[in-house]
Amino acid sequence: MCGIIGYCGPKPAAAVILEGLKRLEYRGYDSAGLCIYSDGRFHIIKRTGKIRDLRNSVPPLLKGDFGIGHTRWATHGEVNNVNAHPHTDCDDRIAVVHNGIIENYVSLKEKLKSEGHVFQTETDSEVIPHLIEKYYSGDLEEAVKEALALLKGTYGIVCMHIDHPGKLVGARNGSPLVVGIGNGESFLASDVTAIISHTKQVVYLEDGEVANIDADDFRTTDLRDQVIEKKVELVSWELEEIEKDGFVHFMEKEIFEQPESVKRAMGGRIEPDLATAHLGGLNMSNKDLLNIERVRIVAAGTSFYAGMVGAYLLESIARIPCTVEISSELRYRNPVVERNTLHFAVSQSGETADTLYAMRELQRKGATVLGICNVVGSTIARESDGGVYIHSGPEIAVASTKAFTSQVTVFYLFSLLLSRMRHMSYEEGVDFIQNLQSVPVKIEQILMNNQAIRNMAVKYSHFKDFLFLGRGINYPVAMEGALKLKEISYIHAEGYSAAEMKHGPIALINEETPCLFLVPDDGLKEKIISNMREVKSRKGKIIAVAVEGDSEITEISDDVIEVPRMKECFYPLVMVVPLQLFAYHCAVELGRDVDQPRNLAKSVTVE
Ligand code: AGP
Repeated sequence: MCGIIGYCGPKPAAAVILEGLKRLEYRGYDSAGLCIYSDGRFHIIKRTGKIRDLRNSVPPLLKGDFGIGHTRWATHGEVNNVNAHPHTDCDDRIAVVHNGIIENYVSLKEKLKSEGHVFQTETDSEVIPHLIEKYYSGDLEEAVKEALALLKGTYGIVCMHIDHPGKLVGARNGSPLVVGIGNGESFLASDVTAIISHTKQVVYLEDGEVANIDADDFRTTDLRDQVIEKKVELVSWELEEIEKDGFVHFMEKEIFEQPESVKRAMGGRIEPDLATAHLGGLNMSNKDLLNIERVRIVAAGTSFYAGMVGAYLLESIARIPCTVEISSELRYRNPVVERNTLHFAVSQSGETADTLYAMRELQRKGATVLGICNVVGSTIARESDGGVYIHSGPEIAVASTKAFTSQVTVFYLFSLLLSRMRHMSYEEGVDFIQNLQSVPVKIEQILMNNQAIRNMAVKYSHFKDFLFLGRGINYPVAMEGALKLKEISYIHAEGYSAAEMKHGPIALINEETPCLFLVPDDGLKEKIISNMREVKSRKGKIIAVAVEGDSEITEISDDVIEVPRMKECFYPLVMVVPLQLFAYHCAVELGRDVDQPRNLAKSVTVE
């Protein structure tokens, strides 16, 4: 979704901003723009398309030591140069970049127009510079605060005024914003990725906070001008982690990182002597954990599917009733919060608006909500009552891969912890840990089949529709596989329970609709084989992800991707990997923009 960077300092601002915007590309965008103050005036350049198009339009000699930039993911108004940010007031003396949605922009715009303001764009964001213009009488920060007080909706903004060279004012309400503190330079950005090559020292703004920065200093207040002392934090990851490191795409790199990222998710959290897990950030005593009678998981997209695997584990391993819900639905259905129910908000980015608002709604009703997040310092991570970081490192590709396996790994750990407090014996705990610890090596074995999976993707990528079918704990994996395929290759795919196929989707089966079956050697294998035969007898093509050496499956299937044999409940962690690779290679074969698929954003910060 939209990205922001602002810069004050001695370096050429245009170069810093263009580099930051390039690093924000992964969030998803359709146009970009910047405003640089140079030679006593604003230079505003905006372009649809990629950052390279914007870069090509910026005069090489444009220097300037402060400015702002933005990547826009259109919500209000079509994708064109005019609607791209920054937006300005009537006299082009104030420039603003905005993330989020101003819900009352129509009435504000009408009022401003009636007062003589002239608008250029169809966006909701343009009301902000006009409101600042209206309230400006020499003090930019004061005018910003007066303007913000009138806005309904969400915003992360940064603005600059031609009469205040070297100063930027930023504010947040529902859209993330961080201050970066460098050596004689300062930044404002929607995420640290944009500024990590310059500084690792950051201050995370909270909703309702305003930051005033110049090259040497920053000051934070609330909207009523009360000074807020903020803690300077250190970003823990390295610049190399957001580079491609020899891979063609970030998605490919992130798929291949999974043996390591799964290990990191477990790192320091297993207690071999006690055959249990230790999750330090839960903020819960053993007594609290023992009192849990139910678990509810809320999430969106891939995180939702990880939550579904988690729910299956918590019920089958820990024997604790567990439900999982799409966060956008939960928020608006007035959910009942029961006593002794623990809630999880699962989110890679920690900024997904649907999940954040669902979490706040649950907390408002008195629920304890733990976060399972990747991005350290993200809003969900900060506002949750405790939680677990998955420590995957930055996930840059829009399609989530390593976050899924790490989120699921955390659910294995949590299930182990709760089970060992209840019915699971020491010996069973040891066995569980050994199986979990074997996962990274098993993922490595699957990654060695990359070329064979690629060949299969080449063979199947011209099909227009796919069904992904699984059962039990692998049913959410089938849905995750279908999501991966559709989001990056734009091939239509649906994930279903294999058993549910006969209740409708079987009508789709013919030679043009391949079915990808997940067939572990578990208690449901024979049932799945029956479903495969139903497809076969209707001339449907079958790809199976099955256990190595399973001749029965090889005989029914057109193609087989083999995975190593595992203990039943651990299959999701390995079964998903070939599906990620299959989707990836289909997308490459079709010439898609793998890391930034059309219409999608990495962190969906609007409802
Ligand atoms: C995953 O490939 C998707 N891009 C998307 O479904 C994503 O998982 C969803 O938007 C939730 O994001 P989050 O984990 O950051 O909350």
